[in-house]
Amino acid sequence: MTQTNRQILLASRPEGAASVDNFRLVETPLAPLEEGQVRVRNHFLSLDPYMRGRMNDSKSYAAPQPLGSVMIGGTAGEVVESRNAKFKTGDKVVGMFGWQEFGTSNGGDLHVVDTTHVPLSAYLGPVGMPGVTAWYGLNRIIEPKAGQTVVVSAASGAVGSVVGQLAKRAGCRAVGIAGGAQKCRYVVETLGFDACIDYKAGNLYQDLKAATPDGVDGYFENVGGEVLDAALARMNAFGRIALCGMIACYDAQPVPLRHPQLLLTQRLLVQGFIVSEHMDVWPQALAELGTLVAKHQLAYRETVAEGLEKAPGAFLGMLKGQNFGKQLVKLI
Ligand SMILES: NC(=O)c1ccc[n+]([C@@H]2O[C@H](COP(=O)([O-])OP(=O)(O)OC[C@H]3O[C@@H](n4cnc5c(N)ncnc54)[C@H](OP(=O)(O)O)[C@@H]3O)[C@@H](O)[C@H]2O)c1
Repeated sequence: MTQTNRQILLASRPEGAASVDNFRLVETPLAPLEEGQVRVRNHFLSLDPYMRGRMNDSKSYAAPQPLGSVMIGGTAGEVVESRNAKFKTGDKVVGMFGWQEFGTSNGGDLHVVDTTHVPLSAYLGPVGMPGVTAWYGLNRIIEPKAGQTVVVSAASGAVGSVVGQLAKRAGCRAVGIAGGAQKCRYVVETLGFDACIDYKAGNLYQDLKAATPDGVDGYFENVGGEVLDAALARMNAFGRIALCGMIACYDAQPVPLRHPQLLLTQRLLVQGFIVSEHMDVWPQALAELGTLVAKHQLAYRETVAEGLEKAPGAFLGMLKGQNFGKQLVKLI
């Protein structure tokens, strides 16, 4: 009997905010495996903010996703059939199969992972791309020194939560910025940050000033817009800003900087980066992050939507901050 695969395609490009109408769910038959191929049943699908950029046909670091193709994305699953000597049925693997229940490939893009001490889903979070992103921006751009102050926005999220915990391990004062009292409480009480500012309440600049009495030496930017303005105004001379994401601008109009002169007067280093362009650090970063997770020394949280059909709604919700920690879709 022919098995079917369910897939979510990019049906149209958003005009303004993305909507569920930009996606289409289809069922396609699975062709028999050819020699050298592997078939994976995806268990988890990673939903990430960068996917919003790929939906547009605009200038970016990566080509737009073609219309009518399966939405791009990281996946973690299990080999269910193999005609490739490097993989056997039952192997747990991570790959980039995108928004679909089954993936088929020649194995070149798959990595077998050990789930003895690290849960499969964590390979899409703290021990995957978001974790390496945190590791790279913090260690290679901010280069934290003990006693310094590091601030990170979207602090309860997949990337931000790792940044602050690694900064604490480096002996820094770690201050988060997040949306809402519940997320801020989690950032301090569970993740161990020294403070967390709720940017949706109070006066962001005044609250950040109170939480950073010695100024800010390193700022890890996930958000942009007004949050960047407030952080910029607290930067110490020769501070470093790792520009990782600008999620406040993905769906909306760009927000101009209010005080760009601070870049000069504080002699700041501002470095944008794309983690997939730094594959040389991945083995070291993944080894360190995997050890921390296995030893329960790195906390993380997941928001899990159940079923492929929930992916578009969960993705759009994440862009509005409805996720609490790494946003995943559980497919089985
Ligand atoms: N450069 C790279 O290579 C790279 C790699 C991975 C990720 N990134 C970037 O890193 C950032 C974090 O990604 P993630 O996967 O860890 O996502 P995440 O933080 O788990 O989820 C996104 C969070 O962004 C916050 N947010 C959304 N709209 C916002 C707004 N208008 N103003 C302020 N905050 C807003 C929300 O948190 P609150 O509820 O706290 O507002 C939301 O939960 C994203 O900008 C992403 O594009 C970059």
